[in-house]
Amino acid sequence: MSSIPAPDAIDVHSHYVPKGWPDLGAGASGADAPPVPAFRLESEREAMIMLGGREFRRIASDCWDAQVRLADMDADGVRAQVVSPTPVFFSYAHEPAQAARIAAILNDLALQICDPAPHRLLPFCQVPLQDADAACRELERSVAAGHLGVEIGNHVGDRDLDDAGIVTFLQHAAWLDVPVFVHPWDMASSPRLDRWMAQWLAGMPAETHLSILAMVLGGVFDRVGPQLRICFAHGGGSFAYWTGRMDNAWRERNDVVGTSEYPPSHYLHRFSVDAVVFDERPLRLLVDTMGAERVMVGSDYPYPLGERPAGGLVRRAAFLDDRSREKILFGNATEFLGSRLRQGALR
Ligand code: CO
Repeated sequence: MSSIPAPDAIDVHSHYVPKGWPDLGAGASGADAPPVPAFRLESEREAMIMLGGREFRRIASDCWDAQVRLADMDADGVRAQVVSPTPVFFSYAHEPAQAARIAAILNDLALQICDPAPHRLLPFCQVPLQDADAACRELERSVAAGHLGVEIGNHVGDRDLDDAGIVTFLQHAAWLDVPVFVHPWDMASSPRLDRWMAQWLAGMPAETHLSILAMVLGGVFDRVGPQLRICFAHGGGSFAYWTGRMDNAWRERNDVVGTSEYPPSHYLHRFSVDAVVFDERPLRLLVDTMGAERVMVGSDYPYPLGERPAGGLVRRAAFLDDRSREKILFGNATEFLGSRLRQGALR
């Protein structure tokens, strides 16, 4: 039994969708422009995200209604929640100017959603990551307007996180003291991956693993300073499970693998992961591999593949001592969110 009560959690992984938005396709050039999400209200509490004229995802008012979210947080023992974009809005395949317009629209709507509880609903913005300059500008604008951090997709088409433009953006985020949350998205599609929910169950963990590998072997952690605070969703995907295999490859096939200064396991202290892994055994692996300082509660609220109650696994995991549990529930997130969280808590 715990000798001290576990604190309320900070949840670093949740999503929002606004209750409607302007036409995101306005100003798009060319008939081959990718489809943009549209909103179809079904009732006061339900809506459909439409994409290219087809039904993409059914959502409910917990996506946009602060009071619904706060009631769920109270029930789950969540003090504060990072509120990030839903990846279908990233728009990285659009022209940069249109993607910048979409990002600005969504980022302003996110502030409205979080406004009723600025110390509990902590907005993270999106940026047009396909254009480093535009991404840096929208990051600066959003942070000045009240966003505490940024969520990015784990790749932009064939460009991974070691792409020169994306590295420039990460350096700028570090310089601005803004935390970065990396979410897998745009998973590969094939007859084998399009069955069941294989894109979510196998594709997403592989995407995240690949992008952490790109940060390591692409030399990003060698080039970007330790002031970069970066967290990967879903426990970092399959990365932590395979550090031994990657280190062995780095040593044995350094002729093709060794672009990083050190083997992959050397860089585990340079990033964090969330704890939405649902089972005590992978959580133990994460804490053993990453350290209790590198794991934070995330829930993926309000989507069906998320954990409810948020942080429940961390609260009941018998192997955690009180100090580690407190770090994972609360302490690590306050470090990750940084000075803007502390300023916000004071207002
Ligand atoms: Co998510």
